[in-house]
Amino acid sequence: MADSEQTEKRVAIVTGASRGIGRAIAQRLAHEGRHVVLVSRSLDALQSLADEINASGGSASAAAADVGDASSLTSCIEGVAQEFGRLDILVNNAGITRDNLILRLSDEDLMDVLRVNLVSAFVACRAAARPMMKGKFGRIVNIASTSGLVGNAGQTNYAAAKSGLVGLTRSLARELGAKGVTANVVAPGFIETDMTASLGDEIKSKVLASLCVRRLGVAEDIAEAVAFVTSDGSGYLTGQVITVDGGMTMA
Ligand code: NAI
Repeated sequence: MADSEQTEKRVAIVTGASRGIGRAIAQRLAHEGRHVVLVSRSLDALQSLADEINASGGSASAAAADVGDASSLTSCIEGVAQEFGRLDILVNNAGITRDNLILRLSDEDLMDVLRVNLVSAFVACRAAARPMMKGKFGRIVNIASTSGLVGNAGQTNYAAAKSGLVGLTRSLARELGAKGVTANVVAPGFIETDMTASLGDEIKSKVLASLCVRRLGVAEDIAEAVAFVTSDGSGYLTGQVITVDGGMTMA
């Protein structure tokens, strides 16, 4: 596939890139001159975004993988590294919620949320570590949540997964730092996407009242932070949790 111009660019993988925050991150990283590999379960949704990025002077391709399936995700990441001869940036963004109070939370909703939000990041980082170490450069970003930092009633499963990302990321930062690979968490607050669309106006008004900046977040707010932590100049920034929440938690 890749011609020599593409392989000279830094190669970034963004999971859950078909919509919402992942889509904005992919567009932003392409704007920063990265070749972006868009990952989600369905190629259809990704191909139109890849076409859009390529048509506007950026560089993107699409790869289908279910991040909840360790072998599908591992072969996707190994395949990208092999195809391009490098892997520079990994953004583990795909995520789901299955909210319920703990007494009503099923084993299935617990395990699905842990697998898609937390285990997937472990699997992806493990697959990405070798090519990044080989290239003596890497930027890993795990998208967590303020729920994982301060907790949220009805989200014990999700908060546990997102909090787990912090321990995973900090341990990785310690393991891989000497090889030029950084690992950080970006923790969004309330961002207007499909994930939050079904929450009622009452919840949105409450959230709004708790924000210093008096507006709900948009996906581009998170993309801005990801662009910064994945930049070549951010090599001294590692093991950090960057909370992007309009001042909601100040955790
Ligand atoms: P979204 O629901 O709009 O998009 C999620 C993306 O992940 C989609 O592209 C979906 O296809 C993909 N995805 C889900 N399960 C997958 C699987 N098994 N395999 C491959 N792809 C899968 O969600 P949104 O709002 O864009 O969230 C992105 C990330 O940001 C998630 O990790 C979420 O937990 C986190 N987040 C979102 C917040 C918000 O207010 N929207 C707040 C805090 C964190």
